[in-house]
Amino acid sequence: MAHAPKSETKQDTSLTVLGLESSCDETAASVLRLHQDGEVDLLSNIVASQDEEHRPFGGVVPEIAARAHMRKIESIIEKAMKSSGLIWEEIDGIAATAGPGLIGGVITGLMSAKGLAMALGKPLIAVNHLEGHALSPRLTEPCPFPYLLLLVSGGHSQLLSVKGLGDYKRIGSTVDDAAGEAFDKTAKVMGLGFPGGPQVQNWAARGNAKAVKLPRPMMGRDHADFSFAGLKTAVARAWDAGNKSDISKADLAASFQRAMTDTILDRVGKAMKIYRRQTRETGQARLVVAGGVAANTELRAGLLGLAETQEFDFIAPPLKFCGDNAAMIALAGAERLAAGLVDGYDAPARPRWPLDADAAASAPKSGYGKKGPKS
Ligand code: KG4
Ligand code: ZN
Repeated sequence: MAHAPKSETKQDTSLTVLGLESSCDETAASVLRLHQDGEVDLLSNIVASQDEEHRPFGGVVPEIAARAHMRKIESIIEKAMKSSGLIWEEIDGIAATAGPGLIGGVITGLMSAKGLAMALGKPLIAVNHLEGHALSPRLTEPCPFPYLLLLVSGGHSQLLSVKGLGDYKRIGSTVDDAAGEAFDKTAKVMGLGFPGGPQVQNWAARGNAKAVKLPRPMMGRDHADFSFAGLKTAVARAWDAGNKSDISKADLAASFQRAMTDTILDRVGKAMKIYRRQTRETGQARLVVAGGVAANTELRAGLLGLAETQEFDFIAPPLKFCGDNAAMIALAGAERLAAGLVDGYDAPARPRWPLDADAAASAPKSGYGKKGPKS
């Protein structure tokens, strides 16, 4: 077949990126193609969970996680490439989570990405894991900037104004535990199993949410920060004091989940007002939820209701993109690559890396010290 003359050749303006994620307890790799109009072709998405390894300890053990990432990363990358059907020459850039997270895992993924990028002579994109979550709704539907983001995961609870790629302004943040941490610790105290969030949700489905009176920290306050430590302690006390029948287990799980939902909705309601003030958006605005806790059914339903009454469109990623995955890292990498935001092969692994560095430095909410602000 004759080749089309040059002028008739359709210009391919898409970018294809391999993304790696290894900042906590999922070893993941994904190949994704981002078109100029924002459309995404997810060519592969491989996630190897370490749940089995951490289950006996009721939480993620950093040393075990680091070793598991090292053991698995090579074969996960191979699987992602194979299932994408592409060859290495078709990859335009290599993206990896460079923080924040457990340093052993972050180093494993980032070093693998650097090795590949150097060997292939391709650009490296060092992605902030939180930016991956922040952009995750864009994997499956149009979600234009700006939007108000509720990011609730195992390590983070934040409300951010997302103005554009790399342009985030913190509106609220947790002063102690993250939302997912509260779910995980509650499940651990009650012996519900690991990971805690889905277990609490399952038990809560059979319980009475009004059975146990629990606090709703920060509710009604004139800011959009969270606090979950007191609620977690109250659950532990109620558990110690109560009988351990299945009925009371379900009741306590349901009461805890309701208290979490009430608290988060109250904080989001406050953040909506602050967001409107800051952006001067008076018409229909947009609320996005992301992170592992965004998988919680009761929270999703509550957010949808709140969004409707406050005239916000509500966008939540499908469940498989709520928890940690490499598709969101590949997307963040592709968006950064398209904007010319690439990193040197000496990009550091960063255990702490706030999305809004200015707010974290001037008004740290947690983890401030010699190592710098965490959030
Ligand atoms: O985003 P993610 O996978 O990892 C971090 O970046 O931290 O979030 C994991 C967290 C865990 O704390 C897990 O218990 C929680 O998300 N989670 C849930 C649910 N599914 C996962 N929490 C509440 N309800 C759920 N259905
Ligand atoms: Zn995460």
